[in-house]
Amino acid sequence: MRSTGLGAAGAVGAADAVGAADGGEGTAGLPPCPAPPAGGACPAGGARPAAAASFLEQAVVEENGAFASGIFRLVLGAPRTAGCLEPGQFVHLPLPGSESRLLRRPFSVYRTDASNGFVEVVYQTVGAGTRFLAGVRPGTALDLVAPLGRGWQVPPGTRKALVVAGGVGMAPLNMLVARLLEEGGVHLVVGARSADCLVPLAVPVGVGAGRLGTVTVTDDGSAGCKGLTTDVTRELLQQEAFDYVATCGPEPMLRIVAELALAAGVPCEVSLERRMACGIGACLSCAVPTRTGLRRACADGPVFDAREVLW
Ligand SMILES: Cc1cc2nc3c(=O)[nH]c(=O)nc-3n(C[C@H](O)[C@H](O)[C@H](O)COP(=O)(O)OP(=O)(O)OC[C@H]3O[C@@H](n4cnc5c(N)ncnc54)[C@H](O)[C@@H]3O)c2cc1C
Ligand code: FES
Repeated sequence: MRSTGLGAAGAVGAADAVGAADGGEGTAGLPPCPAPPAGGACPAGGARPAAAASFLEQAVVEENGAFASGIFRLVLGAPRTAGCLEPGQFVHLPLPGSESRLLRRPFSVYRTDASNGFVEVVYQTVGAGTRFLAGVRPGTALDLVAPLGRGWQVPPGTRKALVVAGGVGMAPLNMLVARLLEEGGVHLVVGARSADCLVPLAVPVGVGAGRLGTVTVTDDGSAGCKGLTTDVTRELLQQEAFDYVATCGPEPMLRIVAELALAAGVPCEVSLERRMACGIGACLSCAVPTRTGLRRACADGPVFDAREVLW
């Protein structure tokens, strides 16, 4: 087992991330994420390399521990996946040991370190599988399937984006924010039940210095403003002009953010969660009703154009 250099887990308020990306010392209390390898990054909205075909990779658990209240952080040594995963794509993890866990479970990738071959997942314990995962020890081998799904498709020319994250919905947005900050500005609205449930932003030090604004919102007011991410989103869309809105979190929140963005005439993408069986587009268990019929969250999504989704 190697040292990941990604640092110890810890619950860190997302608000702390502002200083970091605005030119401060660290990154939301996390150690710096290494800069992407030369040629590995694409400008926001620019030409993208063709999506890599999915494959099975024997990954090794490097770190696994508490990150926030009921939320864990898993670092996997998975060099092939780390080298080709695009923001918004996901991995399918096996959770062996019980019949109720025969099916793999899908998880977004929070960040990658392509130069050292690490893939980082942030997950909430909600059932048998994720509770099992929380007990998996460093050194355990997990054969993940990746990269899966269609990630964020940032409109070309995007210079100013609004990103809205609810709870662990921050996971698929973290890499997107880092990508957007390479070229433009981002206003991040990050919400959670309370301060101890916040999932922080972790972007490479220096990326987007001075171009990130963050508003933290909690249900109980224990961090940032007391209220709802949707209220802040409404105000921001009234006050400022954005080229693009991206959001992930509880579905009622997604629906409202999508409606607000579309009413303001701003292109919006949503990352949707569905129960998944195969994860590769074969079983139709992850159907999403859209204007063009049922689409598969695992293969046609999980990121969808908000105009397409029938809520
Ligand atoms: C593309 C994608 C990316 C995801 N990324 C993340 C992530 O980064 N971090 C994270 O914490 N979770 C993520 N999830 C959700 C995660 O896959 C589920 O929480 C996990 O599969 C639950 O497994 P379990 O065995 O613990 O729960 P189960 O025992 O299977 O279910 C427990 C409860 O969780 C609900 N649930 C289970 N799976 C889902 C799901 N896919 N969507 C909605 N509700 C579900 C069930 O209805 C049930 O109420 C993602 C899901 C998808 C589809
Ligand atoms: S999970 Fe099988 S088609 Fe999506």
